[in-house]
Amino acid sequence: MISFSQVNKWYGDYHALVDISAEVKKGEVVVVCGPSGSGKSTLIRTVNRLEEIQSGDLQFDGSKVNGPMPGKQLNQLRSRIGFVFQSFNLFPHMSVLENIMFSPQRLRAMGKSEARGKAMTLLERVGLANKAESYPAQLSGGQQQRVAIARALAMEPPAMLFDEPTSALDPEMVGEVLAVMRSLAQDGMTMMCVTHEMNFAREVADRVWFMDAGSILETADPQTFFSKPQHPRAQRFLSDLRAH
Ligand SMILES: Nc1ncnc2c1ncn2[C@@H]1O[C@H](COP(=O)(O)OP(=O)(O)O)[C@@H](O)[C@H]1O
Ligand SMILES: [Mg+2]
Repeated sequence: MISFSQVNKWYGDYHALVDISAEVKKGEVVVVCGPSGSGKSTLIRTVNRLEEIQSGDLQFDGSKVNGPMPGKQLNQLRSRIGFVFQSFNLFPHMSVLENIMFSPQRLRAMGKSEARGKAMTLLERVGLANKAESYPAQLSGGQQQRVAIARALAMEPPAMLFDEPTSALDPEMVGEVLAVMRSLAQDGMTMMCVTHEMNFAREVADRVWFMDAGSILETADPQTFFSKPQHPRAQRFLSDLRAH
């Protein structure tokens, strides 16, 4: 579904992604972890082309992501990749329901009643049907993030990217967001998740990718990664996390 082949990216002189070759298969959940500044966000943002790569090849669902692309095709690519990040970025002047209806109506020319029905189904799915008429400011952070997930799902993306979706939340709200992500995973969604929630990685991930200094130093199934990390830097990362 997502394939990186010899991908390199620089910010000016800084080599932010170094020879990345890796694959996310259809239906697979990959957790990307690693120290702050290791390139996790950069990596995930190349998939929907929020960041450009300078060399290598990047494919999404059989189509090339890098290289010349007309704006229309770029919008199409982005509409097929759900993206959820740390700050929820809901439209503040729209109700929860309108937030979710917006993209299908605007980008898919979906009729209002269909969009509404679909949005309600998604709200039920994230456990917020009773908040349909609320405005984002009236919701907790965890609720807003669940709405953000529902909004991303409204476009029926074949894959979802998460960049530290629980990092801005109060601890008591982390679980409700992870539960929604877990149910998506169980339904077979292809997911690439940057997260420090190692219990989530252990229980939900099919593969863990460990990054440091722009490289993927280790990829493993979670059992192996957590019990027998191979790379010294992965060992240090995990022991620092545990010490925390
Ligand atoms: N827009 C940018 N311009 C220049 N450097 C950047 C930019 N975005 C990120 N970087 C640098 O690239 C490195 C990787 O950043 P990032 O992908 O955000 O790491 P992570 O998500 O793992 O914390 C960091 O050293 C960061 O300072
Ligand atoms: Mg980041």
